[in-house]
Amino acid sequence: MTSTTSGVGSETDLPAIPAPRGVHCPLAPPAEFAQWREEPGLRRAMYQGRPAWVVSRYQDIRAALVDPRLSADTIPDSIMPADHDADTAVMFARTDDPEHHRLRRMMTRDFTFRRADGMRPQIQGIVDRYLDEMIGNGPPADLVRDFALPVPSLVIALMLGVPSADLEQFHRNTTIGLDTRSSDEEKAQAFGAMFTYIRELVDLKERDPGDDLISRLVTDYVATGQLNRETAAINGAIMMQAGHETTANMIGLGTVALLQHPDVFARLGETDDQAVIANIVEELMRYLTIVHSQVDRVAIEDLTIGGQLIHAGDMLVMNLPAGNWDTEFVDHPETLDVDRNARGHLGFGYGVHQCIGQNLARVEMQIAFATLARRLPGLRLAVPPDELRFKGESGIYGMRELPVTW
Ligand code: HEM
Repeated sequence: MTSTTSGVGSETDLPAIPAPRGVHCPLAPPAEFAQWREEPGLRRAMYQGRPAWVVSRYQDIRAALVDPRLSADTIPDSIMPADHDADTAVMFARTDDPEHHRLRRMMTRDFTFRRADGMRPQIQGIVDRYLDEMIGNGPPADLVRDFALPVPSLVIALMLGVPSADLEQFHRNTTIGLDTRSSDEEKAQAFGAMFTYIRELVDLKERDPGDDLISRLVTDYVATGQLNRETAAINGAIMMQAGHETTANMIGLGTVALLQHPDVFARLGETDDQAVIANIVEELMRYLTIVHSQVDRVAIEDLTIGGQLIHAGDMLVMNLPAGNWDTEFVDHPETLDVDRNARGHLGFGYGVHQCIGQNLARVEMQIAFATLARRLPGLRLAVPPDELRFKGESGIYGMRELPVTW
């Protein structure tokens, strides 16, 4: 991509977008966001060291995310590794249509509603296995370490086709890479090992294909010259990271929200109505909106959004929490109302880049929350609420750890 410059002069004193949540109500978006929605035009703020327009109204976010004049190719050339060869590995999430569509289409059949639904028995088995271990070793327990992180790790391993002999190593590296207590060095080492591993997995699946995503990429697309090995590997690695951290954060933070709403937690434990469970998860997605400031775009032409003139080259960030708490979208956004229809929420994004893993993530969350509530109806925090440690520096909100007892 070409490097981008802001259409507005020097703006080094711009404030940053506030950290994910306010101190007094850590599950609600920062109070400033309500003002940002109400004021005319778009707010200007620093985002990852660059000035950016922050899009905070529900309708403006939807309009922006379907506008072809905004590109998802936002990674500045300056931060790509020196030996990065754009022709070799293509990250489809950072590519625009038609190339984005061509690559995404190679993977969509692994993420259909039917396929995610078909994985329910396996996901239930994984959830039960980690709950058995957590219950066997406790109380107390750290629900992030013992449950929220390992469950999505194993589910993705299953999807990618990681052989069972490698599962422990895969799990160790993914959880070290995402554990907020790991040092930067440990994280970098763990992710490096993961990327190398996924490259080797591509080679393995070429020799010995199975019924999994990497095998299908290899046999259907690499073998026919439509996809190179590096792109297959990097997109496998993106799946691993995009699907793991987000789902783990939702399970941790969602559990806190459920424990703050004991009536909802009890209802989850008592019902076997899938529609009720699904609706609770949709409202948790809206209410918590963990992807805080990762959905960014760059303008490739001048355009107007929310009454604001944007110049070609300007950065934009979608303020998904603000959009999901917009009263133009729902009444009383501050209420966790699990009987409302929250289906149009922006928690999985919108438009052509809307989360490819959303069906899978929904099934994981539905099974994780419902099983937790069924098996541990007496679950409660093991520390006072003001000692809970939240995280948000990465732009994705979640719990650092979640000490629980039962
Ligand atoms: C609760 C869990 C999850 C949340 C909150 C979430 C959120 C999001 C959001 C907001 C986007 C839009 C990004 C953009 O427009 O720039 C996105 C895209 C994406 N997600 Fe998820 N996600 C979750 C789970 C998953 C899972 C389980 C997977 C895969 C196994 C996954 C893989 C991806 C990929 C590959 C993209 C890029 C799609 C594209 O550019 O076409 N996500 N996700």
